[in-house]
Amino acid sequence: MCGIIGIVGREPVAGHLVDALKRLEYRGYDSAGLATLETGGVLTRRRAEGKLRNLEIRLAKEPLEGVIGIGHTRWATHGAPTEANAHPHATKRVAVVHNGIIENFRELKDELIAAGHHFESETDTEVVAQLVDRKMELGMSPADAVAAALKRLTGAFALAFLFSGEEDLLIGARRGSPLAVGWGTGEMFLGSDAIALAPFTDRVAYLEEGDWVVVTRAGAVIHDETDAIVQRPIVTVSAAAFQVDRGNYRHFMAKEIHEQPEVIGHTLAHYLDLTAGCIRLPVTPSFDWASLDRLSIVACGTAYYAGLVAKYWFERLARLPVEIDVASEFRYREPPLPKNGLALFVSQSGETADTLAGLRYCKAHGQHVAAVVNVPTSSIAREADVVFPTLAGPEIGVASTKAFTCQLAVLASLAVAAGRARGHLGIDDEKRLVRALGDLPGLVVKTLRLEPRIVRLAREIAKVEDVLYLGRGSSYPIALEGALKLKEISYIHAEGYAAGELKHGPIALIDEVMPVIVIAPFDAIFEKTVSNMQEVAARGGRIILFTDSRGAAAASVPTLETIVLPDMPSEIAPLVYAVPVQMLAYHTAVLMGTDVDQPRNLAKSVTVE
Ligand code: AGP
Repeated sequence: MCGIIGIVGREPVAGHLVDALKRLEYRGYDSAGLATLETGGVLTRRRAEGKLRNLEIRLAKEPLEGVIGIGHTRWATHGAPTEANAHPHATKRVAVVHNGIIENFRELKDELIAAGHHFESETDTEVVAQLVDRKMELGMSPADAVAAALKRLTGAFALAFLFSGEEDLLIGARRGSPLAVGWGTGEMFLGSDAIALAPFTDRVAYLEEGDWVVVTRAGAVIHDETDAIVQRPIVTVSAAAFQVDRGNYRHFMAKEIHEQPEVIGHTLAHYLDLTAGCIRLPVTPSFDWASLDRLSIVACGTAYYAGLVAKYWFERLARLPVEIDVASEFRYREPPLPKNGLALFVSQSGETADTLAGLRYCKAHGQHVAAVVNVPTSSIAREADVVFPTLAGPEIGVASTKAFTCQLAVLASLAVAAGRARGHLGIDDEKRLVRALGDLPGLVVKTLRLEPRIVRLAREIAKVEDVLYLGRGSSYPIALEGALKLKEISYIHAEGYAAGELKHGPIALIDEVMPVIVIAPFDAIFEKTVSNMQEVAARGGRIILFTDSRGAAAASVPTLETIVLPDMPSEIAPLVYAVPVQMLAYHTAVLMGTDVDQPRNLAKSVTVE
């Protein structure tokens, strides 16, 4: 998660900005930077790749003057973690720091380039600086320019602005990512959270969704999304609240579900070159995709379902034969393995005993061994020949959410890389798929907005004792994952099935009570799933359909509820369709009153057989 700090101060501010950023290091980052107004109100920046130490070294060599400034720790989402992509992003008139995702940055960037603006970074953030600059170029005041620019942005973000020549002005905005205003004595502050502001003040107001704020040494004027002036309560933050906690979420699982746009973007920033439109893996594989006879995927639980989605991708995009099994079966089957095979182990914790045992079996039998893990120092990471990291950040909730979608993001990138290396994907195919993957954060932001519908649906699910999830193709593993999420945190029995298997047994379960949840984006096999839904409806079954606009139009069956997700290329649908089933499980569990983050009998990592 990126960190934001802004200070309208009375003394040199660079050191204070760095101190505040140090308090935000827990959020994770891979570059940092400051901007201040030096003598004459000149906007000046210092930025550095890597840790804050590098920025401090930079500042020691090239000190930054000024008593007003903004600072940022960046967790790369759009664009690699380089100095050029580090925040603040600026024009001559305005500098901005940003936490979140600007969904429509591409169309805005095209519009601004057409208007003669030049860009220096790959980031979505720079578009915001250029947009505000353009409004000011047309004569708007800083506040009017920001208010107008905010109306052009879609996405989830927190922003802080600094303007050349404006020695007593910061502007902040919040939509989807927290931003706090701090009151000092003759100085004022902006910060991602109260933790950043703790060295300066304990009097804080939290902006609400859509708010933007004009901050001067005299105080803060807060506007809502209609630009009307509003009051937000100033609270005194207790020392205890300065612990790293769930932010303003009720459970870690809820926080981690909502972190997905950023952590997926952050992960993909290490696998995609959005400018060139190609895959750029963070590590060079120790094997040659083109010479592999077979890929064996081994994992447990949710990670296994990620591997199951990847089977469809590797076989379709790379024509690479895939054998997949849960680790507890794989390790004792003693499967014969090909001469030139790759074994890929997927694990959030990197410590799952069965998965680690499977890895050791494959190493002992001459396989190339790769791992997709979220903990780079874990046993599986240490024993693999090559590690493809998911960069989801610490996942605290026992039920895996953001790690799962980051696993899928990595696996999709690997499948595209394999497809290119094995000659089954052309350059244009790669560009199309990379663009689709690059759009994922915005698609997940849009899908998270379905949450109020999901909350109402959870009220129905909380009343039943059994639920059936159905999916076809790469939606089948998402049906399995949805069933696992529901059963493991709400304790309601649920099972996932391949939709085509309905007739081979599960159809005997259909009655007027048990909900049948169908995961079905409109694709080449959608009509087949419609037939299954007709079989369910004919027996009075209660269908809940997750689809897109074309699916909703084509599904000629009565449903209890049809939830329409954004349209997207079918290849990336499993990643996005995981989000509503996560939210459904979460809200059902909340209604059931279970311990959502620590469900009974479960451990976050099963390090024993
Ligand atoms: C997922 O919600 C479960 N907590 C569980 O199935 C988990 O995915 C499984 O234990 C594998 O864990 P790992 O990814 O850490 O190997």
